[in-house]
Amino acid sequence: MTVHTTVGQDPDSNDVVILLEMQHREIRRRMDAVLEETGKAREKAFRRFVHLLAVHETAEEEIVHPYVRKAGEKKGDQTVADRLREEEAAKRALRELEDERCDSEEFEPKFRELRAAVLAHAEAEEAEEFPLVRSMADAARLQYMSKALRAAEMVAPTRPHPGTESAAGNLLLGPFAAIADRTREVVRMALGH
Ligand SMILES: [Fe+2]
Ligand SMILES: [Fe+2]
Repeated sequence: MTVHTTVGQDPDSNDVVILLEMQHREIRRRMDAVLEETGKAREKAFRRFVHLLAVHETAEEEIVHPYVRKAGEKKGDQTVADRLREEEAAKRALRELEDERCDSEEFEPKFRELRAAVLAHAEAEEAEEFPLVRSMADAARLQYMSKALRAAEMVAPTRPHPGTESAAGNLLLGPFAAIADRTREVVRMALGH
């Protein structure tokens, strides 16, 4: 792993870009798990993916995009506009999938399409947006943003869905919109808004 000497002693926990890239990898793993599973296990894997995607994209919308838009001037503006368009398209596709049963015939092709879009979006962020963050933000800023992202990671939905607990029994998984709302609140509080 790359060590970023500009950030505190523990780069994994202090550097918002490293954390976001770790979440990208976890999102990919959770999407792969959806395709590997069937029946109830697929349903559970799908909810786990939805939860992380909601937390991740909302945190980016609240923490990263506004910073890049402000600090990155014209180039930042364009990059953020492109990323927001991709995120909106993914959310639309996800809303459709949430209405679908995981064992229906339509689910898998739609999910594969969403997976490709989510991966392309993450790649674009890593290629275009995160380097801007890296070049503009000092250690204090990276840390400030990472704290808000950590707070977002702790979000558990306020409206549990019966029967969707994880094996550990403590991870209650709700619909995308509810998780996104809760994440937004938590992140704004962490940022001091
Ligand atoms: Fe994103
Ligand atoms: Fe992302």
